[in-house]
Amino acid sequence: MIISLTNHKGGVGKTTLAINIAFCIATKKQKVLLIDADPQGKVLQWQAICDNKSFDAIHHPMDTLHADIIELAKGYECIVIDAPPSNLDINLSILLTTKLAIIPIEPSPLSIWASKNTVSLIKDARRHNSRLEGHFLISRKVVGTSLGRDVREELNAIDMAIADTEICQRTDFVKSLREGLSVLQYAPGGEATKEISRLCTEINFDDSCSLRYLTDIRRNIDDYKVGVTEKRQHPRRVPLVSVDFAVQGRAYRGFIHNISAGGAFIETRESFEVGAEITMTFLSSKDRKPIKVTGEIVRSGPQGIGVRFKVAQRDTMIKAVTHESQSAN
Ligand SMILES: Nc1ncnc2c1ncn2[C@@H]1O[C@H](COP(=O)(O)OP(=O)(O)OP(=O)(O)O)[C@@H](O)[C@H]1O
Ligand SMILES: [Mg+2]
Repeated sequence: MIISLTNHKGGVGKTTLAINIAFCIATKKQKVLLIDADPQGKVLQWQAICDNKSFDAIHHPMDTLHADIIELAKGYECIVIDAPPSNLDINLSILLTTKLAIIPIEPSPLSIWASKNTVSLIKDARRHNSRLEGHFLISRKVVGTSLGRDVREELNAIDMAIADTEICQRTDFVKSLREGLSVLQYAPGGEATKEISRLCTEINFDDSCSLRYLTDIRRNIDDYKVGVTEKRQHPRRVPLVSVDFAVQGRAYRGFIHNISAGGAFIETRESFEVGAEITMTFLSSKDRKPIKVTGEIVRSGPQGIGVRFKVAQRDTMIKAVTHESQSAN
């Protein structure tokens, strides 16, 4: 089982939940790895306070997680991933490898609005990882208020399951973290412990994390290497990186589905006029430097747009894409 805690909004309780879920699952005699994919690296800071060895934890804030996971997961039955709040590329990589994405939601409109970006990213990732399920989890609910019920009604309008368990705002969550403990160790009979235990019963974590499943996901992603078997002049591959692009003075964001020295296909739900000029900016996977390229939209459909680069830019793109192709092989 690979579970991730993800939400573009900061402070909703992702790290607190990741630590406590990992601990709770480890008590069920499963070998658990917690991957801290947030550059802030708070999980290892927590673990260092009292050398808490209840489960293994590593810091791996990389947008290549969906490829690295096959090695990282060896020997573990359950992987819990703590996602960063804002890094789109890392979040996409996490979702490409996740079975159950838990989206903690605070009972506030800000949290619900922010979650829409997360839901949309889950839908994008599902095209490559068909087993991905998303579950909202009401988190940090103030005890004795009806805010949890209100937020549940609002979330019903979004096409995503909602966990029955709710996690309340409780000081034991904060105090346990400060001591370098899970809430289950800090206050075994407390309400916070009961909530985490209830959540872990609700999650079917017995679905163990098989390497075959991970290899299948990797293969699905590789299958999108459109053109490699089509013997194009410049082989294409799927870097699955996000791209900022501008068309007719407006800025957009999408994902590069495949790219060659001559053009690219960008996944986006927006529709554009064929023939319009487009400027794209994305990060090179080699040195993370921005690559800026202009071209023309030659195709526009429900899945995205086809772009042909300007002839004058092909040399730059040949260098960029040659590296991409080499690193893919
Ligand atoms: N259920 C809870 N009750 C009380 N305090 C909580 C609860 N969940 C989280 N907190 C506190 O809220 C703060 C933010 O929590 P946490 O770091 O887990 O959120 P996050 O979503 O991981 O944030 P970020 O997006 O910055 O990584 C922390 O101080 C944590 O102790
Ligand atoms: Mg966090």
